[in-house]
Amino acid sequence: GTLTIHTQKRGAALGDLFGIFFEDLNHAADGGLYAELVQNRSFEFDPIDRTDYHALMAWEHIERGDGKTVITVEDSEPLNDRNPHYVAIDIVAEGDGVGLMNLGFNSGIPVKEGENYKFSVYARRETSFDVPLIVSIESTNGIIHGEAEIAVNHSEWTRYEAVIKSKATDSSSRLVIVTKGSGRVYLDMVSLFPEKTFMNRPGGMREDISLLLADLKPKFMRFPGGCLVHDGSLNPDDRDSMYRWKNTIGDVTQRPARRNNWSYNQTLGLGYFEYFQFCEDIGAKPIPVLPGGYDPHHKRMVPLGELMPWVEDALDLIEFANGDISSKWGRIRANLGHPEPFGLEYIGIGNEEVGAPFFERYPYFHQAIKEKYPDIKVINSSGPFSAGKEYERGWTSAKENKSDLVDEHYYCTPEWFLANHHRYDDFKADEPKVFLGEYASWGNTYYNALVEAAFMTGLQNNAHAVGLACYAPMLCNVDYINWKPDLIWFNNHEVYGTANYYVQKLFMNHQGDQLLEIKANGFTVPEERKVEAITGAISLGVDASAARYSEITLVNNVTGEVKTYSELSEEVSNLPDPAQNGTAKRTLELGETEWESYTLNFKATRTAGNKGFVFYF
Ligand code: AHR
Repeated sequence: GTLTIHTQKRGAALGDLFGIFFEDLNHAADGGLYAELVQNRSFEFDPIDRTDYHALMAWEHIERGDGKTVITVEDSEPLNDRNPHYVAIDIVAEGDGVGLMNLGFNSGIPVKEGENYKFSVYARRETSFDVPLIVSIESTNGIIHGEAEIAVNHSEWTRYEAVIKSKATDSSSRLVIVTKGSGRVYLDMVSLFPEKTFMNRPGGMREDISLLLADLKPKFMRFPGGCLVHDGSLNPDDRDSMYRWKNTIGDVTQRPARRNNWSYNQTLGLGYFEYFQFCEDIGAKPIPVLPGGYDPHHKRMVPLGELMPWVEDALDLIEFANGDISSKWGRIRANLGHPEPFGLEYIGIGNEEVGAPFFERYPYFHQAIKEKYPDIKVINSSGPFSAGKEYERGWTSAKENKSDLVDEHYYCTPEWFLANHHRYDDFKADEPKVFLGEYASWGNTYYNALVEAAFMTGLQNNAHAVGLACYAPMLCNVDYINWKPDLIWFNNHEVYGTANYYVQKLFMNHQGDQLLEIKANGFTVPEERKVEAITGAISLGVDASAARYSEITLVNNVTGEVKTYSELSEEVSNLPDPAQNGTAKRTLELGETEWESYTLNFKATRTAGNKGFVFYF
C-alpha cells in the first residue's frame, strides 16, 4: 500500500493537547510528591479528617532507661490561630532521655548514606527547662544514623533548625527527639526534609517522583483536583472548607490543616505557589481548578448574593499568577520569590459538576473573568460522562456561556475505549473544545495501556475538537490507596511508572504541532469481527462508572421464554463505588444456554441511552 502525506494540507493544531493531572488522593502530596518526611508535623490530625485520626497520629513516646514523661497535646498558647495544636513534653524523670519519635510514611523515614536532611522545629520552654534537645535519625532498633543538638533558649515560639547527615541508607528509620533535665518544653511544626529536592527547592518536591513527571514532558498540569476541590464547607476558615487557594500560600505555619475528602489530612505544604513553581520547573502550563461555590457531594451552595468573594478568588488568582509587581497579588507572588509572572493561560471552574446550582453560578465567574482577562481560557465543567443529563447540562452551559473548553471525565473498560475511538469525530470545531480532564481504562496492564494508546490516536486525530487531555489519577502511594488504577506508583523511597505511564510519555514526548492530511491506498481493512452465535455460559458485565441498571431479563427469541434476573438486577444497580474497590466492573454469570438468538432487556436507572454500557461474553 501507499501512504501519501500532504505536508502542505494542514488541519487542526495540536496545541497543548497532552498533559497531566495532579490530585492529592492516594497520598499523592503528603507522603508523596511533597518531600516532607514527618507525618503529622503540626499535631493537627483530627477525627474530622478520618475517624481513627488523633493529634498524636504517627508519633510515639520515648522513655529511655528510667525516664518518664507525659506528652500532652495543648492549644492554649498556639503558634498562631491557624495552627492551634502543639505538644508539651513534661519531663517527670529524665532517665536516659525522654521525648517522642515520628514514624514517617509507609515503613518509616527514608534516608541515604552521606546525604543531608534539614530538620526544623518551633519550640518554647519553661524556664526550668535548660538542657538541649537531641534530634536523631535512628533505625528501628536504635542505631543512630545521624544527630544534632538544639538549645531551646526562649520562652516564646522560636524556629530552630539543624542539618543532619546520615551515615547509612535505611528506608525505615525514625525521627527521634529526646531530652533530659527537668520541666516542660513545647514543640510544633516538627519537620524533616531531604536537602536534595527537585531543583533544590527548599521545602520542595521529592526528586524521584518529580523526575518521572518531568520526563513525560507534559504540556500542562491540571491541579489541585478532582473532588478534592469542591467537597467541603463554604467558610474558608473551616477545617472542612472547600479547597481555597488563598489558604495555601506563604509561611507553612499559617496554612491551616485541611480535611482532604479522600479521608486523610492535608497539610497544604504543597500549595498554589509550589504548584505554579513546579509547573514552571517541568515546563507544563498550569491549569488551576477552583470551586464554583457549590459542593455537589453535600449539596451545599453559596447564596447567589454572596458569590462575589468566590469570583474574586478567581480574579485574584489570575493576578497572583500573571500580575506585575505593582499589583496587590503580583507583589505577594514576588515576595514569595517569583517576581516574574507565571504566564497563566487557563482556569477551570468546578470539577465534574452535577446539579443545576453549579450552572447557575458558573456564568458569574465566566463573565467576570472574561471582562477583566479576555485572553484567559475559561474551562466549564460537566458531570461525569456517565451521568447522562448532568453531562449534557455541562455542554449546554458551555455553549450558552461560550466557555473555551468543557472538562469531561470517564473511567471505563478497555472495551469501551476501543468502541469509542471515534467519539469526537462529529464534535464541531467552532464549539467549546473538549478538555478530557480525567480518563483511564480500568487497569494497569499492557492491554490497558495499548487500548489507551489507540484511544489517544483518536484524540489526536480530532484536535479540531479536543483541546486538552490528561490521564487520571496520576500518583498513588502503595500503602494509602484510595483509587486505582493510577499512572505512577511509589512508596517512601521507590517509584515506578506503569505501562500506561509509558504510553502517556510516548504521546507527550512525540506530540506533533499540527495534523497533516494523510491518504492511504492499497491497504486491506480487516473485516469487522462479528459474533454469529453464542452458546455456553453467558455473563453480563456492567461498567459501574458508566451506569446503573435494573430489571434485567433475557428473552429466548425462538421460544419466547423469559428469564428474569431480579437478584442480578439488584446487584448490578448497587455496584460498589469504584473509588473504594479499584474496579467497578463486575461480571455476573447468566448461566448455560444453547439459544442462538436472545434479547437482553435492562432498565437503565442512571445513564443516557446506552452510553457507557458494556457486555462481556
Ligand atoms: O480521579 C479521581 C476522581 O474521579 C476525581 O477526584 C473526580 O473528579 C473523579 O470522580
